Amino acid sequence: VSGVRVAVIGCGLQGSEHLRALSSIDDVEVAAIADLNEARLAEVGERFGVAHRYTDASRLLEHDLDLVTVCTMPDTHSALVIDALAAGANVLCEKPLARSAAEALPMVRAAEEANRLLMVGFNMRYMSATAAVRRFVAEGLLGDFVCARGFMLMDEVPWWGKHYVNEISGGGALNATAIHMLDLLSWLAGNPKPLTATASMATVFPAKRSASAPPGAAAAYDVEDVLFGHVRFEGGFWISLEGTWVYDRPGLNYSFDLLGTRGQAHLDPLELFTERDGQVVEVSEDVPADLDIEGAVNPTVEAAVASTRAGEKAAELADGREALVIQAIVDALYRSARAGHEVEVEVPADPETPA
Ligand SMILES: NC(=O)c1ccc[n+]([C@@H]2O[C@H](COP(=O)([O-])OP(=O)(O)OC[C@H]3O[C@@H](n4cnc5c(N)ncnc54)[C@H](O)[C@@H]3O)[C@@H](O)[C@H]2O)c1
Repeated sequence: VSGVRVAVIGCGLQGSEHLRALSSIDDVEVAAIADLNEARLAEVGERFGVAHRYTDASRLLEHDLDLVTVCTMPDTHSALVIDALAAGANVLCEKPLARSAAEALPMVRAAEEANRLLMVGFNMRYMSATAAVRRFVAEGLLGDFVCARGFMLMDEVPWWGKHYVNEISGGGALNATAIHMLDLLSWLAGNPKPLTATASMATVFPAKRSASAPPGAAAAYDVEDVLFGHVRFEGGFWISLEGTWVYDRPGLNYSFDLLGTRGQAHLDPLELFTERDGQVVEVSEDVPADLDIEGAVNPTVEAAVASTRAGEKAAELADGREALVIQAIVDALYRSARAGHEVEVEVPADPETPA
């Protein structure tokens, strides 16, 4: 296929971002969009010039589609992704893949059975600073991976979607936000096998942020808005992770330190160090600032379109299996925080196939 036929399900904040990204890619036809909210569907359809609009996503899937991007909240990802794959489309699903690893596994298996691509919108992988860290690692300047610490500290609850309702989101500051950093660090380190996890978490709202809350939010709010965790991987690597929505420093603060046996990478600002002849040398490169977490939606969607065209996933894009393991780590962090001690990471196993 040269002209790629794409449909977007969910026209909220992120669905609009996908449509904006799609409108800048050559040879893409946005065949249809869907949203339960009719007013939003009409407004977004007008804005991006999409004529076929549905409140029922199954009608959208009657179109002949090469790629469906799923931009609804996590509670509907599983059913929509499985239906889109069954209809023969490749899928780019927004993060988090699901509310739990148990919910993610059938999605991954559906993609494998349909022989279609399941790609996940962990767009931090496409930030320009990330690419520089990848080059630095590939050149051997970091050495072997020792450990990482990463944080995503936000000064607001994401009120635009119901990210604060556990049944809808599968979790707050971790499953909605810091999961980006967890995926990024795990991927940069070569996706080692996670072994155990420990975490502590708290819900600070409504002590903070009640002034900005929409009506009814206080009654429904049941997620953590602070979680700090620690994950151990096979081979000794570990990640220390911090996420919150009630940080008082303005904006979205995120960065990491990745420590190696020879050097160190700091994400924001990008600072790369390596050791030469016993001396620490800075080898940072200048990277364009536009490809931050938000700017990186564009290359993520472009990569999903290119992967669809090629019939093969771009190397940087997260696939379903990787996202399944990330959900298993998220599950373990929540289980640990509830239990008050370290727990094993349990990736759900595929059902036995008869020999
Ligand atoms: N990668 C990123 O940086 C990033 C940024 C923001 C959001 N997200 C992710 O995108 C997803 C959506 O988040 P959001 O903030 O845009 O939420 P949102 O609430 O703004 O938008 C979701 C939209 O989906 C619609 N919807 C729900 N169920 C539907 C169904 N069955 N069929 C059709 N439409 C349906 C809703 O009416 C709503 O308009 C979440 O998984 C979120 O984590 C990712």
